[in-house]
Amino acid sequence: MTYYYRLGKIPRKRHTQFRQPNGCLYHEELISILGFSGVQSLLYHLRPPTQIHKILLQRSPDIPPEESGPLRPRHLRTATVAASGDAVEARVPLMLNADLCIGVARPTQSMQYWYRCADGDEVIFVHEGSGVFESQYGILRYKTGDYLVIPTGVLWRIIPDEGIEQRMLFIEACGHIEPPKRYLNSYGQFLEHSPYCERDIRPPQELITHDEEGEFEVRVKARNQITSYIYHYHPLDVVGWDGHLWPFAFNIEDFEPITGRIHQPPPVHQTFEGPGFVLCSFVPRLFDYHPLAIPAPYNHSNVDSDEVLYYARGNFMSRQGIEAASITLHPRGIPHGPHPGTYEGSIGKERTEELAVMIDTFRPLQLTKYALALEDKDYPYSWISRSEIGK
Ligand SMILES: [Fe+2]
Repeated sequence: MTYYYRLGKIPRKRHTQFRQPNGCLYHEELISILGFSGVQSLLYHLRPPTQIHKILLQRSPDIPPEESGPLRPRHLRTATVAASGDAVEARVPLMLNADLCIGVARPTQSMQYWYRCADGDEVIFVHEGSGVFESQYGILRYKTGDYLVIPTGVLWRIIPDEGIEQRMLFIEACGHIEPPKRYLNSYGQFLEHSPYCERDIRPPQELITHDEEGEFEVRVKARNQITSYIYHYHPLDVVGWDGHLWPFAFNIEDFEPITGRIHQPPPVHQTFEGPGFVLCSFVPRLFDYHPLAIPAPYNHSNVDSDEVLYYARGNFMSRQGIEAASITLHPRGIPHGPHPGTYEGSIGKERTEELAVMIDTFRPLQLTKYALALEDKDYPYSWISRSEIGK
């Protein structure tokens, strides 16, 4: 994140003697991005984080794109994706390019291992569910509507609350995910025009130090493969840390919408940015208040980006046939816009209760075989009004 935070106990000066009650030194681990030039945090372990006892190739997440047929708008119904496995194993990759992979997950179990993605940052949008996000940085309770932003290098696991259905959208990026630079001043502080600020960010709240011996598995995703490392002590043995690199939660309900007299463009909804993409939050808000305003969005031609929308809640007023957990993909090159009747139908409406997450990518996305299995084949033709059908 953009500001300094600390939890637990740390010595007054970094890289100086800091001893455990038994007289042994604590073991430092600096986690830094962009070599030593980016944000970083310094962690203090009970034991060295380097003592690997066994290495096993877990699996290569082989997710070949299976794009088929002509370029067309896509509608994927993900509501019926099977719920099983833990928060990583349950991931169903749906679309990807060289910058990111987007998919959904419906975990039913706690992770029995800890996980680190070394290829880039991750965002998990919790559409439904609650539980604990546990990391070396401490405990973070998550709930419906949270974005969990996990920097690369963070060791974590998710423990869903028992009996609570979980539904997640995930983005695995090949780089770092940050608030848009235009929301921040040169000191890294959120500016007044930003739709959210530091008070809306939830850092890890409680650091629990595990001093346990046994057999503990850490899975690392790097170079597009997952490798298991077995350690003989609990990996969450951190007694304190400080720095700017830490996982956090930000709830979509804390995104303050920017509205205007006439229709505001998608950048006002921007929440995060990453290499080759932006992420926007469409939240319940008042509609445009010019006396002649048309609240429905206008047709537009995204000639050099692919637009992905994940529909979480409410009537997404510009589209028909869309349900909760639907994903639409409007690829570059084809104009798109509201369904027939929605311009007129939107006039005079005062507010919307829609809740959706948008991801615009600057490189073309390709679908996986899992996405093709969820496709609504009629969607590309759904802009023809009923009176036109049969002509
Ligand atoms: Fe659009």
